[in-house]
Amino acid sequence: MLVAPSILSADFGKLNDEIIAICEAGCDLVHVDVMDGHFVPNLTIGPVVVDAVAKVATKPLDIHLMVENNSFFVDLFSHLKPEYISFHIEQEKHPHRLIQKIRSLDIKPAIVLNPHSRPEDIEYLLQDLDMVLLMSVNPGFGGQKFISTVVEKTKKLKSLINQHNPDCLIEIDGGVNNQNITALKEAGANIVVAGSYVYGSDNYKEAIESLK
Ligand code: DX5
Ligand code: ZN
Repeated sequence: MLVAPSILSADFGKLNDEIIAICEAGCDLVHVDVMDGHFVPNLTIGPVVVDAVAKVATKPLDIHLMVENNSFFVDLFSHLKPEYISFHIEQEKHPHRLIQKIRSLDIKPAIVLNPHSRPEDIEYLLQDLDMVLLMSVNPGFGGQKFISTVVEKTKKLKSLINQHNPDCLIEIDGGVNNQNITALKEAGANIVVAGSYVYGSDNYKEAIESLK
């Protein structure tokens, strides 16, 4: 299991140290939640802070867009060469075009599904994706309760992925902890995002290792 701590739950008063700490603690990716106050009822960080994060991170960035204008934000972050940029299917009229754009920038494209969205809705996009991110909370905030129906949904998605693009990874985001990790792994998850579970612990290394 790969682990991508969400820096949303970090102490922003010492963000540099918090980024260095998770990288040294053995995380695989640094999950960056970008919210615009329109697609979700919260605002987080923009290009100035994400640039600063990229400067200190020694692990690849996993940028999760929760914004209205996806293409605009892809342009803002493409120079950082993140490993993934993921965008919400609920907010994109031309997902295939945006996937092509992200790939043309040498970044791996990923699509995010909110808790109500169906894996079948992206069946014909799977062959063009490197990853699908399933939300296991409603996007907008860290520290929410895990929505357990995502386990069943992960199994459905895994079976579609096996048919169309076995290399495509599944990432789960929201309320992940050491209680639900085994069910997610068995259902087919490859990467978990964990914000409050990692940053709320006394020992980041132990928290990351317990998920792995
Ligand atoms: C929610 C974000 C998540 C969140 C995860 O909109 O996408 O990445 O920060 O935090 P936890 O792990 O605390 O649910
Ligand atoms: Zn996220």
